[in-house]
Parts: sequence; structure tokens; C-alpha cells
Amino acid sequence: MVTMAAGMGRLGTESAFEVLARAKALEAQGRSIINLGIGQPDFRTPDHIVEAAVKALRDGHHGYTPANGILPLREAVAEDLLRRHSVKVSPEQVVVVPGGKVTMFFAVLMFGEAGAEIIYPNPGFPIYESVIKFSGATPVPLPLLEKDGFGFSADEVLKRITAKTRLLILNSPANPTGGTSAKAEIEKLVKGLEKHPNVAILSDEIYSEMLYGGRQHTSLLQYESLRDRVIMLDGWSKTYAMTGWRMGYAVWPAALVEHATRLAINCHSCVNAAAQWAGIAALNGPQDEPQKMMKAFDERRRFVVAELNKLPGVSCVDPAGAFYVFPNISKLGLGAKALELKLLEEVGVATIAGTSFGSYGEGYLRISYANSIENIGLAMQWIGEWLQRRNAA
Ligand SMILES: Cc1ncc(COP(=O)(O)O)c(C=O)c1O
Repeated sequence: MVTMAAGMGRLGTESAFEVLARAKALEAQGRSIINLGIGQPDFRTPDHIVEAAVKALRDGHHGYTPANGILPLREAVAEDLLRRHSVKVSPEQVVVVPGGKVTMFFAVLMFGEAGAEIIYPNPGFPIYESVIKFSGATPVPLPLLEKDGFGFSADEVLKRITAKTRLLILNSPANPTGGTSAKAEIEKLVKGLEKHPNVAILSDEIYSEMLYGGRQHTSLLQYESLRDRVIMLDGWSKTYAMTGWRMGYAVWPAALVEHATRLAINCHSCVNAAAQWAGIAALNGPQDEPQKMMKAFDERRRFVVAELNKLPGVSCVDPAGAFYVFPNISKLGLGAKALELKLLEEVGVATIAGTSFGSYGEGYLRISYANSIENIGLAMQWIGEWLQRRNAA
């Protein structure tokens, strides 16, 4: 009998991958499944980005690169952040990693241990809570509520900070709700955090380019008073439809960047060299493909919110960003997980239970609109008919 480390028993998972596997199994049995569970754009990576990777391979970029990423890529990231957020960042503070997830793993490992507390959004990306528990730290949930558009309340964050708090995790625009926080609330939080100089902040801004209704993103990098302790996570996966390339990065505070690089050396050595050249093409090249993608997402967002609000017993707030909606299903008389299972097995629509994103997700379902408007329409029709049959029975 082998004996694993205790942390392995505390590691959670991302159930989107399980739902995807079950949906594929049902399809293999001949069932027609519409997948609204998926957390990735249903678009191809733009051609000029793919071509840059092909060229890099042909040009012989086959070896290891510096662990923090090739300099031209880190320079492109710094220029992009100046363009998008008007912030000056040194390329020396950028660490390129294989996907957005890696930065969260590193940040939690850097601060998490028994006796430490880490505050994280709930409902939120499930990997936060999973890795916090794995590290031995105590996860302190920060409830994100429908009445606040699923944005955080500064007071709720600040009252959870104790002498043991090492790290605060924030995510805006958010998975699974599409929620954001108003600028006034962010500024109130920044002011409050100035009184807690020992708390590091992981700001997951991976959906920062996915905002609707003319909204502007506020990056936590824009606040000078926090610059020595904000880790800003971003990447290529969502903005450029590059989830399979495994390309992400973070801007680390000067005092932490060496530690982050050391984690990279211990973990993965460096990111795939050709993918890094593709990352430069993405940031420096034409932005019309991501813009087209966002136009399509916006159209689907408005459509799916309207359709969900027509379903008896379902209500859905307008999400500000990302490509998810988080409808309230508490009036249907079924728990979120039970509804997820019924929708998949009986209706043929894959969704994710709100509880997969934390205990505060009970009563909600995450629906991704990374699917065609025709498929979304059909899924809403099937769910509507199923609800009618259920109500009639
Ligand atoms: C909030 C959030 N952060 C990070 C990630 C991870 O992205 P990546 O695929 O680049 O690891 C995701 C992916 O779904 C996400 O939703």
C-alpha cells in the first residue's frame, strides 16, 4: 500500500471537465447533447497567431527558453498593459507560465500553509479553494451575491481580514457569474487594504478584455499604493481563444518575481517556445478577430438572458463580462447539482451546478454561451419544454 501526502486528500477539482466527459460519453451513445458547460471560447485561434507558431517551429525555436519567458514576449506584455490599462510594468516583473491556472497555483503555494488564511471568492473559480486547502491554509470564503451583481463588497472583504490573512484572491470579471465590481467599490477596497500592508492580493483579470455595455476594466495594477503586493494574473486563453496553447502570465511585485521564477524552474522549466512566439503575434497583431468574437458573445449574452428570463421559475441578471450567465434556479425546487444532472441526462443540455463553484453557488446554474446562437436557442427550447412537462406532471 502506498501512502500519499495528506494534501492529496484535500485537493478538489474542476467539475467542468467531468461534465464534459459525461457529455462526450452520452454523445458516443448516439444522444444529441448541447454543451453549455464549457469554459472556453468556441472560436479558433486567429490564423496569424497560428502562423507565428508554425514559423517559430520552422525557424528552429525548439529548445528551452528562459524560465520567465522570452524577453520579446515579456516586452510585448508590458506594452500591452500600457496600452490597455495605462500602467507601466517592467518586463522583468512578468513571468510567463503555461496557462492562467499556474499563477494561481504558485501564488497560493507561496503564501499558503497551516495557520495561514486565504480569502477567496465564492462562488468562484473552483481551483482557488482546492489549492488553498491543498496548501494547508484555511480557505475563507468571500460571498458574492446576486443583489450586488455578483461583484464583491469592499466591507465584506475587509471584515474577513485577520492577523492570519496572507492572501486575498479577487476575480473580475468573474467566473462563474460574469460579475464585476463598480469602480467606487474597488477604490473603497484599495483604501481599506492600505491599512493591511501584510496582505498580498492575487487579482485574476483573465477576463479583462471581455466586458459588455461599454464597461471599462479597472486593473488593480493601477493603484500605486498596492503595487508592492499585487499579483496580476492574465493570459491568452480567453481573449485570443487559446485555451489549448497553455499560455498565461502574471505581473509579480518586484520582491516576489524571483520566487515565482524559481517555482517555474522547479515546475515546468519554461513555456513551449513556439507558443511564446504565437503570444507575441497575438498581442502585437491585429485585434479584429477578438473584437468579432466579443461582438458574437455580446449578441448571445443578450439572447440567453432574455430566453432564461422567459423560463418559468428561472431569473437571470445581466452579466457584465466573461461568457457565462448565472441564472437563479432556486424556485424550481431542485438543488443545483440535481438540476445539472437532470438537464444533462433527461434534456441533453450540459450546464454546471452553481455549487461546483462553492457553497454560495447553491440555487444557481452556470451556463456558458460559448456556443452558437442556434444551439443556445435550441437548448433553451428543450429546457422550456422539459419544465412544462415537469409542471404539468
Ligand atoms: C477565473 C479564471 N482564471 C483562470 C482560468 C485559467 O485559465 P487557463 O486555461 O489559462 O489556465 C480560468 C479558466 O477557466 C478562469 O475562469
